[in-house]
Amino acid sequence: MNVNAENNCIVIFGASGDLTHRKLIPALYNLYKIGRLTEHFSVLGVARTELSDEQFRQKMRDALLETEKTDGDTLEKFCSHLYYQAINTAEASDYAKLTPRLDELHDKYQSCGNTLYYMSTPPSLYGVIPECMAAHGLNTEEFGWKRIIVEKPFGYDIKTAKALDVQIHRFFEEHQIYRIDHYLGKETVQNLLVLRFSNGLFEPLWNRNFIDYVEITGAEQIGVEERGGYYDGSGAVRDMFQNHLLQVLAMVAMEPPAIINADSMRDEVAKVLHCLHPLSAEDVKNNLVLGQYSGALIDGKKIKGYTEEKGVPADSDTETYMALRCEIDNWRWAGVPFYVRTGKRLPVRVTEVVIHFKTTPHPVFSQKAPENKLIIRIQPDEGISMRFGLKKPGAGFEAKEVSMDFRYADLATLSLLSAYERLLLDAMKGDATLFARTDAVHACWKFVQPILDYKAERGRVYEYEAGSWGPVEADKMIAKTGRVWRKPSGLMKKKI
Ligand code: BG6
Repeated sequence: MNVNAENNCIVIFGASGDLTHRKLIPALYNLYKIGRLTEHFSVLGVARTELSDEQFRQKMRDALLETEKTDGDTLEKFCSHLYYQAINTAEASDYAKLTPRLDELHDKYQSCGNTLYYMSTPPSLYGVIPECMAAHGLNTEEFGWKRIIVEKPFGYDIKTAKALDVQIHRFFEEHQIYRIDHYLGKETVQNLLVLRFSNGLFEPLWNRNFIDYVEITGAEQIGVEERGGYYDGSGAVRDMFQNHLLQVLAMVAMEPPAIINADSMRDEVAKVLHCLHPLSAEDVKNNLVLGQYSGALIDGKKIKGYTEEKGVPADSDTETYMALRCEIDNWRWAGVPFYVRTGKRLPVRVTEVVIHFKTTPHPVFSQKAPENKLIIRIQPDEGISMRFGLKKPGAGFEAKEVSMDFRYADLATLSLLSAYERLLLDAMKGDATLFARTDAVHACWKFVQPILDYKAERGRVYEYEAGSWGPVEADKMIAKTGRVWRKPSGLMKKKI
């Protein structure tokens, strides 16, 4: 199997935006540095701002010098592959300027017409760009492959997601569309699959007979930063839950695919997402908690409340936190609750999955049997930790929780590919396994629709203090079944 990208030209629409210099160019640079991008590639940045190739290179060079470990020679070589074309992305006639540029680049870099388009623009242009490209034949595969990467959000709800698909599918076939969810590019999310499907030890236990409940946490310490304008129209449900966390849930809960390839893997992902138990009005009332952070003083520093953030209306009731109890209606998971929560301005940045196993059926010792847990830490400090009880040394039979820990950093002699590196490389190799397929995206939207309706009806949003673990109502929600949320620590170093 070829581990390198195919020769190609990467066209980034929205090249003057944040994502380009924060994520895309650094990812391409690092791939180039480790030899995954051969010399036969070029990048054509496209945006409205007038810039020369050299001005674009300078901007990207500055961004790389700021964020990456660069070496002068590689940096200069990499930057020589960068080009720029100013167009009005909303104006079809302007796309005529792209054809000669692409011809010239394919010629120069022998990239055989292979073109990867990256839509890193405001979502309002996702339907417009493919149509404008098609007006100039930029989508046809007569000369080399044409693939298009779509950044989230893939729609705003189920209706707009379907409409967006119709728009894109008019000009690109499903096999050409790569919907990027950067959580699927994270090493530990993929490791979940290896852990589950290549170990005889876990898979027999991975079901309702042995698992009591599953906890999935996507906690962020940061607030909305400079993105208040975007975030206020989105909220935690659309920004994190509908995509990233439901994809993680699918990795935890899916059936094993017969082989790992784009079709069989994504068939299983879609299948399990379709099995999510539809949320009734009762579920939304009893099993959902939305919250919004208020200001606080943390370590002597004043942290703004959400409604004081730039770009956020003072009376906004957008949620920055959500917690939900949901279930999966299938043979494997019937009756096992999945508790999922995400929020901004929580005490630490941590994404983890905790599998809580059932306790022993009969208490042999006087004390309550310790819980057995498998903690899969997705970030930071990627790793896996198994918790179980062993005897405390000395007299009696008192059990103490012990931990068997594996940290990725101890294994990886090579540095891991970041999510964008992995996903961009896969797209350039034509491997869509880790990209969201349309049926899965629709299943996610369909599942969250009752939550969106609740939001639209101005359902209750509880306040929580910045730096806390969210509204107390979320604790009460999980406590109804006698459970508590795990409170992971930030820096795990030795122990997670
Ligand atoms: C993005 C969201 O998709 O994911 C952000 O729009 C969020 O609001 C980010 O901060 C989290 O990603 P990560 O990789 O930092 O967990």
